[in-house]
Amino acid sequence: MSEFNIALIKGDGIGPEIVDGAVTVLDAVGEKFGHKFNYKEVLMGGCAYDACGVPLPQETIDVCKASDSVLLGAVGGPKWDSVPSQLRPEKGLLGIRKALGLYSNLRPSILKPQLKEASPLKDEKLKNGLDVMVVRELTGGIYFGKREKAEDGSWASDEEKYSVEEIKRIAKIAFETAMLRNKKVVSVDKANVLESSRLWRATVTEMAKDYPQVELSHMYVDNAAMQLAINPAQFDVIVTSNIFGDILSDLSSAIAGSIGMLPSASLGATKCGMYEPIHGSAPDIAGMDIANPIATIVSAALMLDMSLGLHEEAKAINAAVDKVLDMGYRTADIMSEGMKKTGTKEMAALIAQNL
Ligand code: IPM
Ligand code: MG
Repeated sequence: MSEFNIALIKGDGIGPEIVDGAVTVLDAVGEKFGHKFNYKEVLMGGCAYDACGVPLPQETIDVCKASDSVLLGAVGGPKWDSVPSQLRPEKGLLGIRKALGLYSNLRPSILKPQLKEASPLKDEKLKNGLDVMVVRELTGGIYFGKREKAEDGSWASDEEKYSVEEIKRIAKIAFETAMLRNKKVVSVDKANVLESSRLWRATVTEMAKDYPQVELSHMYVDNAAMQLAINPAQFDVIVTSNIFGDILSDLSSAIAGSIGMLPSASLGATKCGMYEPIHGSAPDIAGMDIANPIATIVSAALMLDMSLGLHEEAKAINAAVDKVLDMGYRTADIMSEGMKKTGTKEMAALIAQNL
């Protein structure tokens, strides 16, 4: 029997419910395949601010660093809108990404045939499907640049800065990801305006020489957003900066039917990654047992696959999700006519039972 230590950051809003859903499924995986998952719950986000006065306690960083992997729900909510900016829940999330050195963020969007109805795009735009991996740089750019505000409040600024090293390492992840997929990378920037984007483009172009089998093209971010909406099937891997990746991954997930379905992996130089749904904490539906736990459950699958080396187990989770969708079960966000409406707990239990 193999044992794994997993740090759980449930966070705020629907975070606890969806992480509990993933734990239900992980426990069932453990039972079926003979593994033991040891969980250690730690605080981050608004709940950490409430309990300890900071959004990211040192203990959380220490526990995460000592774990095989981290599973995260979501953080933030209007409750903390008035706390000072350096203590906001989101600061905890950015802080843990930085503290664990998680510079690459993989956000796959796949349109499942069962969810065509839930996509905002017309059938005609979806006929060639959607299977895109957004590779988002996660510890640089405007998210971590210098922030300034005039004392009299008359101006404010945020700096977008990238070093060649930062661009190279994320480009490498993108090319290597593409080698395992359809060998196409679109690098997204705003090189017609931004100096940092021109460096981005030049560096990615240089990197491409090491991957002659991969077809590289470049796209301005505004055009990339339009292209995702009019012809999503053209994309295989998109590599882009922190802020552009944030925006485009919400778009690609919406096209896939619901942001409630999609996982993400944040990785750095070690095997210990952080896995989380790409959606937020949805405070408006917190505690109502209606949130879709699938994004967190498939994030757990991604964790098994990418950090723990449990590939069969990961496949089993994804297959169980498909099976439950095929059986017609839907949470509210992906509900359509003739389907069976279910809640957070029941959805997780069904997936666990169908492993
Ligand atoms: C995400 C989220 C975060 C981000 C927020 C909550 C800080 O939107 O993970 O995409 O912008 O990175
Ligand atoms: Mg986002």
